Amino acid sequence: MKLLVTGGAGFIGTNFIKYWLTEHFDDEIVNFDKLTYAGNLENLKDLENNPHYKFIKGDVADPDDVRVAMTGVDIITHFAAESHVDRSILAPATFIKTNVLGTQVLLDAAVEHKIKRFHHISTDEVFGSLELNDHEKFDENTPYDPRSPYSASKAAADHLVRAYYHTFKLPVTISNCSNNFGPYEHPEKLIPLAITNLLEGVKIPIYGDGKYVRDWLYVIDHCRAIDLILQTGKIGKTYLIGGLTKDISNIEVVKMICEIMNKNFDQSVEFVKDRPGHDRRYSVDWSKINKELKWKPDHDFKTWLQKTVEWYKNNKTWWKRVKSGEYQEYYQKQYGQK
Ligand code: NAD
Ligand code: DAU
Repeated sequence: MKLLVTGGAGFIGTNFIKYWLTEHFDDEIVNFDKLTYAGNLENLKDLENNPHYKFIKGDVADPDDVRVAMTGVDIITHFAAESHVDRSILAPATFIKTNVLGTQVLLDAAVEHKIKRFHHISTDEVFGSLELNDHEKFDENTPYDPRSPYSASKAAADHLVRAYYHTFKLPVTISNCSNNFGPYEHPEKLIPLAITNLLEGVKIPIYGDGKYVRDWLYVIDHCRAIDLILQTGKIGKTYLIGGLTKDISNIEVVKMICEIMNKNFDQSVEFVKDRPGHDRRYSVDWSKINKELKWKPDHDFKTWLQKTVEWYKNNKTWWKRVKSGEYQEYYQKQYGQK
């Protein structure tokens, strides 16, 4: 089987490629990535000489680039996206180009090449925001209500994928997953930002009152869910994927990181201006994928947060390089200081 993994040089794509080649070592993977600020080939250096792995640099929104990558491909797993909400507020246009137009270009190529499966990796953010102190969860029937340019662009992509299933009979599946954490995550996102700021002696910026809730999932559990959907998921269907945390606030997450790293919370954080349109709470009901495909998260938050802290401690060269150059400019724009 030959898989085209778009966005394989990013956080989840990297973990997925490593996972896949361990679990399905006879398969071939083509990693197709534009190498934006978020793409990092250093992540996959250990696979450079693996005959089952190939990298092609290209843009999902460019039909010529995509055509080159499609040769002999059976399955597409579409991870490539602009993925950071704060950047989508600073500059929405790239999000529309990559996440919406890019998905449409890829879908067209998938139809033309009669691809056996197009799996689209999406987010729980398309469902909008839940109330605090409520027991409601997102499920496969929750209406779409995206509230940031990022989530709106992902929602548009999800609609396009479903439209290609109905109109062109393209064999698609979609997964909407909650917040991932783990190795190789870009330090623009809360958990790696907190860990690396603490390691640098820089305060952790907490938006607003910090009482925002996310549903955290260790990245390998996400990869396993995608694997199961590819193997036994029903064509045309959507699966929601979520974690084991029970309404844990950003303050609590940062407190846990401070505890793991022996730092005083009050001295390590600063409360900063809130994110505009900040979604209050996410919580995912993953009972459908549990019932139908027997998936459940295997990695508990506390243990794997500790292991994630260890990974960043042991990979200082990796994140120091990521945090240099463009990141400094972004940090200045987003937080006004460093
Ligand atoms: P990321 O930002 O770490 O990586 C994105 C990758 O896509 C990078 O390697 C980048 O170079 C590549 N890319 C960007 N634009 C491209 C283009 N035009 N053409 C080709 N490649 C391009 O993102 P991530 O956190 O790994 O997220 C991967 C996917 O999973 C995204 O679709 C995201 O919406 C979705 N998702 C992420 C999370 C999460 O918590 N990170 C949760 C649910 C869903
Ligand atoms: O829910 C899935 C989504 O999770 C994915 O679709 C996105 O690609 C991914 O980036 C993530 O989005 P979030 O906006 O939830 O993640 P982020 O790490 O940016 O923020 C997590 C929470 O922490 C959120 O409530 C905002 C807050 N935060 C974030 C940053 C970067 C802060 O308080 N301070 C910060 O500096």
